[in-house]
Amino acid sequence: MTGASARQNLAGKRILLIVGGGVAAYKSLELVRRLRERGAFTRVVMTQSAKKFVAELSFAAVAGSPVHHDLFDAAAEGEMGHIGLSREADLVVVAPATANLVARAALGLADDLATTLLLATDKRVLFAPAMNLRMWLHPATQRNVATLGSDGAVFVGPEKGEMACGEFGPGRMSEPLDIVAAIGSALAEDTGLPLPGAGGAGGLAGRRVVVTSGPTHEPIDPVRFIANRSSGKQGHAIAAAAARAGARVTLISGPVNIADPPGVETRHVVTAREMLAAVEEALPADIFVAAAAVADWRVEAAAEKIKKTGAPPSLTLVENPDILATVAARDRDRPAIVVGFAAETGELLRRAREKFLRKGCDMLVANDVTSGVFGADENTVHIVTAEGVEDWPRLDKEAVAERLAGRLVEILAQQRNGKSP
Ligand code: CTP
Repeated sequence: MTGASARQNLAGKRILLIVGGGVAAYKSLELVRRLRERGAFTRVVMTQSAKKFVAELSFAAVAGSPVHHDLFDAAAEGEMGHIGLSREADLVVVAPATANLVARAALGLADDLATTLLLATDKRVLFAPAMNLRMWLHPATQRNVATLGSDGAVFVGPEKGEMACGEFGPGRMSEPLDIVAAIGSALAEDTGLPLPGAGGAGGLAGRRVVVTSGPTHEPIDPVRFIANRSSGKQGHAIAAAAARAGARVTLISGPVNIADPPGVETRHVVTAREMLAAVEEALPADIFVAAAAVADWRVEAAAEKIKKTGAPPSLTLVENPDILATVAARDRDRPAIVVGFAAETGELLRRAREKFLRKGCDMLVANDVTSGVFGADENTVHIVTAEGVEDWPRLDKEAVAERLAGRLVEILAQQRNGKSP
């Protein structure tokens, strides 16, 4: 989402910001300032430990309203009560979301004002985690993140970087402007995910999902390879969204420079043939999403580095297996939904429809890659199904992923009711 569109979305919006006790709490002061600049109203709730990092008065000053922290504050109860605090908001944001706060929220505890509000809210909750990288990577935290995701919460970050404790890795809270953008998306998008208290687990709970993502690298010799510009952002975002919707997700990733998504089992491969083998090992599944930009050809690789002596060598290309078509053609245990992607540089919809039929998939996500999709954060896609074409607006790749997860939930429900997707 661009700054301009986030600004439009936020005017008049009411954000309930829960500040957890972490060093990143100081960044939430800037978050409140940025939200205010964009015309949003922020009510701030601080946990007891948050007050050890930033003074309550600082938040009251930037937010322009008193800070709440006490579950048993008679004056505040008289004014509106803690349920009211969460009900009057358009969105609840937890920033920084510490490991402890994430765990208490996942368990549904209500032992202070912050967790009581999280349990009482009927609004979407956006978490911006911030913690030591080992705490973030710990299976307990990842389980908690997946649980909150399947209850309908959304996440922004954490980012990789140098941490206050001197270590390097995922755990830094996202920058305030990135959180503002995520707030804009969370408010703008009907993600298809359940809202808290609107029916329990996510729509993909109990489902198995396999996703391919990123490019493949096909070696020419031990030092050179054929590759493409895929960043893996879209495929990784889809894997994360499916996990948040409650699915057990295996992501088969080609070589990328982005972090493994939370709550997802990620396997790393290099070539198309390795990717196919990993996919076949991960199946059976209910849903297969082929978001990878698989190299169509490989080279008969030389065992030694090719030397620059004489005429330039000619490369003999051999066709790679088509992973999507192979999975879609399985007669025994074919996934109930097979989703392909089409990256085209012209005649987008004609080629996408043709590819949809040729590959035998149930849904094809088409995008025009002439407009700088590779590596970008946004994407304009068209969804081709047997029913026709849906044109989606330009969205963050995260929002495309959330919406796609929502569509997958719908298709599974239609299939259960005996209708074709
Ligand atoms: N795909 C795959 N295995 C391949 C090639 C492509 O699984 N060897 C999948 C991609 O993951 C994507 C879809 O097929 O979901 C379409 O990929 P794309 O590169 O657009 O199509 P191609 O089949 O390669 O056709 P072309 O390059 O001729 O457009």
